[in-house]
Amino acid sequence: MKTTEFARRRKQLMRMMGHDSIAILPTALEKIRNRDAEYPFRPDSDFYYLTGFPEPEAVLVLVPGRKHGETILFVRDRDPERETWTGRRAGPEGACERFGADDAFPIGDIDDILPGLLEGRERVFYTMGVHPDFDSHVIGWVNRIREHSRSGQRTPGEFVSLEHLLHDMRLYKSAAEIKAMKQAAKVAANAHRRAMQVCKPGLWEYQIEAEFSHEFRRHGCQHAYNPIVGGGANGCILHYNENNAQLQAGDLLLIDAGAEYDCYASDITRTFPVNGRFSKAQRALYELVLAAQAAAIAKVKPGNHWNDPHDAAVKVLTAGLVKLGILKGRVGKLIKDAAYKHVYMHRTGHWLGMDVHDVGDYKVGDAWRILEPGMVLTVEPGLYIPAGSKGVARKWWNIGIRIEDDVVVTKTGCEVITAGAPKTVDEIEALMASNMT
Ligand code: GLY
Ligand code: MN
Ligand code: MN
Repeated sequence: MKTTEFARRRKQLMRMMGHDSIAILPTALEKIRNRDAEYPFRPDSDFYYLTGFPEPEAVLVLVPGRKHGETILFVRDRDPERETWTGRRAGPEGACERFGADDAFPIGDIDDILPGLLEGRERVFYTMGVHPDFDSHVIGWVNRIREHSRSGQRTPGEFVSLEHLLHDMRLYKSAAEIKAMKQAAKVAANAHRRAMQVCKPGLWEYQIEAEFSHEFRRHGCQHAYNPIVGGGANGCILHYNENNAQLQAGDLLLIDAGAEYDCYASDITRTFPVNGRFSKAQRALYELVLAAQAAAIAKVKPGNHWNDPHDAAVKVLTAGLVKLGILKGRVGKLIKDAAYKHVYMHRTGHWLGMDVHDVGDYKVGDAWRILEPGMVLTVEPGLYIPAGSKGVARKWWNIGIRIEDDVVVTKTGCEVITAGAPKTVDEIEALMASNMT
């Protein structure tokens, strides 16, 4: 993404913040996995959204109207010896030259410099409670100014969470963001296709997971979240992550895996038969989930509200479950009583963006949010019937199905950006036809 895109976002945020304010955003902390081995570093999404700066130990400070520059980055200083061990650093100079900061300082100097930047500012935009250690630094800097208030320094009077402004901005994706999300979607869709092409009984769930890792990494992506690769009964566990069972003929395989590209996520679920052919029962439920998804996607358009797709999915699922004899009663009453909840216990989607469960309010006051162009959401109905489900005939047991696509709200309706992953029964069976030979 171009530095001008990040500059535009900062300008927009500062316009909303107002002149007598300041914003402070630290990036994510590095996390230990075990002993001294770390998890791969992933910048904080809010921080990265405004900077594109990929290194740890960095803080963005925005000071609207500051004469010597409004965008200030605190970053790790250059250090040839450390860089030999832990990798290259942009340093303050690189932060200005390559990342568009107006001013940049070594992170070690932040304690000396930050109080001066706070001086004379009325409002501090900072999100408390995410980094407790950093919270106490911020409080300490404000207190330092307070101590000098008798010499005429003005202490900030107001702390405001940055999330309201920033997360609302992040909800509306720009053209550059949609482009990144389409790339993440394309890579993930191809990986799902690849999984269908290699799947056969006897393989292990982790071997299918490996197809995703390979496909993602060879396109410069990583997993946007821990992938779910669950055969048979495992497909009925919503957040199954063990991915260590052997795949059996006659079972379905549910895969929820998405790629992250340039810090933007895709989120795709496909469900298909391990041996390439749906059984009659599997097919009946699969077609039902697919119809529910189509009905939900048809509701994704400007002017409809957030819950319209969910309501549409629930309606189709409930009517279908009655038809198949899995629910008994009047559809209207069953929906009112949420009688489908034992087989469809999650919602039909969420916002999608830099975070897989992206930021943005789902309600404005008491009302569901109205969909607008540039919003991106998932549409992911499912049905989950583990063995032993009370009142459900045996033939439906151990069927877990979810079908999940990523959908952009456009001016006239919506665009499914994950359509490259096959999902009709015919498409899937045709693609898998040669696997068993
Ligand atoms: N992969 C997480 C979700 O579907 O919400
Ligand atoms: Mn999802
Ligand atoms: Mn998912």
